[in-house]
Amino acid sequence: MPPLLTIDRVSLAFGGVNALTDVAASVADGDITAIIGPNGAGKTSLFNITSGFYKPASGTVMFDGKDLLPLPAHARPKLGIARTFQNIALFAGLSVLENIKLGAHAQLKANAGTASLYLGPAAREERDVTAHIENNILGFLNLSEIRHRAVGGLPYGVQKRIELARALVMQPRLLMLDEPFAGMNANERLQMATYIRRCVTESRTTVLLIDHNMETVLGLSSHVVVLNFGKVIAAGTPDHVRTHSGVIDAYLGAA
Ligand SMILES: Nc1ncnc2c1ncn2[C@@H]1O[C@H](COP(=O)(O)OP(=O)(O)O)[C@@H](O)[C@H]1O
Ligand SMILES: [Mg+2]
Repeated sequence: MPPLLTIDRVSLAFGGVNALTDVAASVADGDITAIIGPNGAGKTSLFNITSGFYKPASGTVMFDGKDLLPLPAHARPKLGIARTFQNIALFAGLSVLENIKLGAHAQLKANAGTASLYLGPAAREERDVTAHIENNILGFLNLSEIRHRAVGGLPYGVQKRIELARALVMQPRLLMLDEPFAGMNANERLQMATYIRRCVTESRTTVLLIDHNMETVLGLSSHVVVLNFGKVIAAGTPDHVRTHSGVIDAYLGAA
């Protein structure tokens, strides 16, 4: 089976800084793939290209046989691509449910065609979105009991889970998570890893996630791509990259 996402020879520069140089990576359907690398390696830039926020100087990004780069950013949800951001972007004063609904609304507006396929005519949209979130998302992520709580007072790990909920509302085929474990304690990391695994096993989502820490993702992903200074220095199974001398050097150098 061809990969769900194929990134090939992608280069991107900001002024004199080569953020990405000739980057190639692929994401197999149904897998959890991790992009790791020290801070500044170019991980988020690669996400921003895939989600249409940055245009690379060269290269291609193919999703399910379609060339993504000519398409505007708002075309991604319709194709089944959703993402979270490295820094939490929730409305602190609004409830859990309101935050998830707002996220869904932003995607629905960009995406009226697909939404109506399984959410019904526009007049029923609001009610149906709420029902979908209540029935399929809140329980799945153990957020039901706190759905009316203001987000601002909730622990950091729970806020990251709410961001995951927002990304899941449109039932994406490809879920892109930028540092889903950042700032979490060990227990929160374990919980988040369990939820990410369940997205794959129960919703058949394909996951592409970023982390700057090698250990966090090794037990979770089947394929790991290692970036350093904008270049892929290793790719393969967790065991392959963990023992790769260039990867060890990159992490020792960054420590
Ligand atoms: N919008 C931008 N403008 C200028 N430089 C940027 C921008 N985005 C990223 N960079 C630079 O590109 C490089 C890679 O950054 P980034 O992709 O955020 O790395 P990572 O996510 O791996 O920490 C860094 O040198 C960063 O400063
Ligand atoms: Mg980043």
